[in-house]
Amino acid sequence: MDISWRAPFTSTEVNALHAACFESRLYGDDEWDWKALCERHSLGWCAAREAGALVGFVNVPWDGFTHAWIQDLMVAQAARRSGVGTHLVSLARERAREAGCEWLHVDFEDDLAPFYLGACGFTATRAGLIRL
Ligand SMILES: CC(C)(COP(=O)(O)OP(=O)(O)OC[C@H]1O[C@@H](n2cnc3c(N)ncnc32)[C@H](O)[C@@H]1OP(=O)(O)O)[C@@H](O)C(=O)NCCC(=O)NCCS
Repeated sequence: MDISWRAPFTSTEVNALHAACFESRLYGDDEWDWKALCERHSLGWCAAREAGALVGFVNVPWDGFTHAWIQDLMVAQAARRSGVGTHLVSLARERAREAGCEWLHVDFEDDLAPFYLGACGFTATRAGLIRL
């Protein structure tokens, strides 16, 4: 397993992983161009590969200064429960800290509390959300 910061990826790979992990529609690269968006707007991203195949990914957007976010963390079903998700978050945390960020944010549903609060070390806090 190779887990790297800002490693090369294609939008096609991430769209396929996203559709499998979030049971969403398979978006085309012209609809959701992860590569262009991450390169333009994010502090970075972490990618996990096994035998060349993309099995894990997380986007790490930021405000350009003190806040960074865990967004669209995904691990392929076959690679789950072996520490890949925790490793992706840990690498994002380290790189955000090195970039000078003071806070790493995430929001999640209740069932993932053991992962984010237990395994990854986040502290529970209030957050807000509006459907647009
Ligand atoms: C959530 C997700 C990224 C976890 O990835 P993972 O590689 O399986 O996580 P890890 O192996 O690092 O898990 C570490 C620990 O977190 C907890 N954990 C992991 N997945 C969990 C889940 N789905 N529910 C509750 N606890 C979980 C367990 O305590 C686990 O330790 P254990 O395997 O010894 O029991 C993965 O299940 C996934 O991609 N899910 C679909 C997409 C998604 O919901 N992403 C998050 C959006 S907020």
